[in-house]
Amino acid sequence: MRLTDAFVTRSLDEIRFWSRIMKEHSLFLKLGFRCEDTQLINEANQFYAVFEAIEVKSHSFTLETDPQVVKAFNEEVYTAASHIWAFKRKVLGLILQCKMPGANNFPLLVDHTSREANYFRNRLVELNTGRLEPLPDAIIDENVFFLRIMADHAKFIGHLLDPSERQLVEQARSFSNDFDTLLFQAVDLESMRPQSQTIPLLDQFLDENRVSVKSLRDFKKTARDLIEACRIKSIIHPLLADHVFREAERFLFIIDMFERSLTGAKVPQQ
Ligand SMILES: [Fe+2]
Ligand SMILES: [Fe+2]
Repeated sequence: MRLTDAFVTRSLDEIRFWSRIMKEHSLFLKLGFRCEDTQLINEANQFYAVFEAIEVKSHSFTLETDPQVVKAFNEEVYTAASHIWAFKRKVLGLILQCKMPGANNFPLLVDHTSREANYFRNRLVELNTGRLEPLPDAIIDENVFFLRIMADHAKFIGHLLDPSERQLVEQARSFSNDFDTLLFQAVDLESMRPQSQTIPLLDQFLDENRVSVKSLRDFKKTARDLIEACRIKSIIHPLLADHVFREAERFLFIIDMFERSLTGAKVPQQ
């Protein structure tokens, strides 16, 4: 396989985005552990340091970096992503077996962060092997992945806001329903493939998803600003509010990239 500039650009882009995300997951998991879970807290701290170092290293590389060096870096990051994935699954097991009574990480949140680690790992494999999915498959698979992520975020926000914030909780619930519906639509399109993979259907699919993701992104931005200004009651860490906002931005960026590849047309500004 010939390693190109596009390989370096895409590798650095994925690693810069997702290593920060993995670093923050380590912090969120740590905050949800109990004081006596010192071993788990230590492990979370170690992952924080590992992904922080990866993040710093990714910013020291440039587009001129030798693609072979980047390829080796991708492998190193792959190993770290696999380890944090295993850690998250271990924590999920402990919670589901009721071995951490009183801890504050929702099982769905731990599962969710492990799915993101797995996604990151798969992206690195795709980059290093050069085996990219055909566009129509990538469009459906990425949307199935991210719509579920967005539906989960709406549920987390709804459950971490103070119950007395009735209006915001209601809005979060409504987003959760919208995204569950969009996810089912995506799964339907998935089971109807390859016949469902026509340009008009995929184009409409992207358009519909974009509209809802933009409105969820705006809701997250508002929530983030209100939390930062201490204007609403919640147990949401300000960094978690920003984290889910950035993930929505990432999904929009991916939708627009697909749209350009599908139609070759310019997409409207957000
Ligand atoms: Fe995340
Ligand atoms: Fe997420």
